[in-house]
Amino acid sequence: MPLCPADILKDISSALNPAVNPYVAKMTAALADGSLPVLQGTALKDCRGQWRETFARLRASNSTPNQSTPDHLAPGIHSGGRRKLMVEIGCHLGLTLNQMAKNHHDADFIGMDITFKRVVTAAERAVAQRHHNVATVLGNARAMDAIFADGEIDGFIVFFPDPWLKRAKNKNRLVDREFSALLTSKLSPGGFIWMKTDQEVYFQEAREGFLKAGLEPTESVDFFAGHLYESTFERRFRLQGLPPHGGHWQKPHDGRMC
Ligand SMILES: C[S@@+](CC[C@H](N)C(=O)[O-])C[C@H]1O[C@@H](n2cnc3c(N)ncnc32)[C@H](O)[C@@H]1O
Repeated sequence: MPLCPADILKDISSALNPAVNPYVAKMTAALADGSLPVLQGTALKDCRGQWRETFARLRASNSTPNQSTPDHLAPGIHSGGRRKLMVEIGCHLGLTLNQMAKNHHDADFIGMDITFKRVVTAAERAVAQRHHNVATVLGNARAMDAIFADGEIDGFIVFFPDPWLKRAKNKNRLVDREFSALLTSKLSPGGFIWMKTDQEVYFQEAREGFLKAGLEPTESVDFFAGHLYESTFERRFRLQGLPPHGGHWQKPHDGRMC
């Protein structure tokens, strides 16, 4: 059940009964002892524009003497010290997020979702698989301006956002014109959006929004090196015979925008 307030920096776990939702208790414990790379409420207040430092801090707090941060994740190893920052919107239980993190050691991955269960489970998966480049955030992606600075993100992954099929509910769709402009403002020059959906109409409307925001369509994104990343919902739809509609859009390198 979505529980996120409009203010992503507002602490909500303290207002909830951990006996009713065990993932609230796990989140509270993780925020106190650093056992999971999961963030919520006031724990996010210093992250805006500081995600690379946040990841360095999370890696330090998640490392034990027997399980230190691998050398390939040390700051400064890649891209002249600037690790790429990817955000998956609606990361669900973290399947795709962790597959990507495993394949791309040169990047850090943030998964956003709106339920305690999803972000805690995705973070547990990262720890179980020993990925030091994953963090999850409980929060409504519409409120991301509070946690991401303009130009801070190198890629957004938006796979199968809730479709809201009934016409009267279209306004609930996450990827509308306003959200497309928001994502675009957070992208670095050359940064990209990769979206997939089962709904052709949703895809066409999102496409219009990305183009209107000044992004350019691109066949593929070099970063993913041809990986297709079939998500949980994509697999469900494929088994029902429903093909995905997807595409990539890139922010021009020269900062030129419509
Ligand atoms: C249909 S599921 C798709 C999950 C996954 N991306 C996949 O393809 O398997 C949509 C996901 O988006 C999340 N979600 C819905 N609205 C959101 C919002 N405003 N901000 C962040 N996540 C959201 C839901 O909780 C859910 O996990």
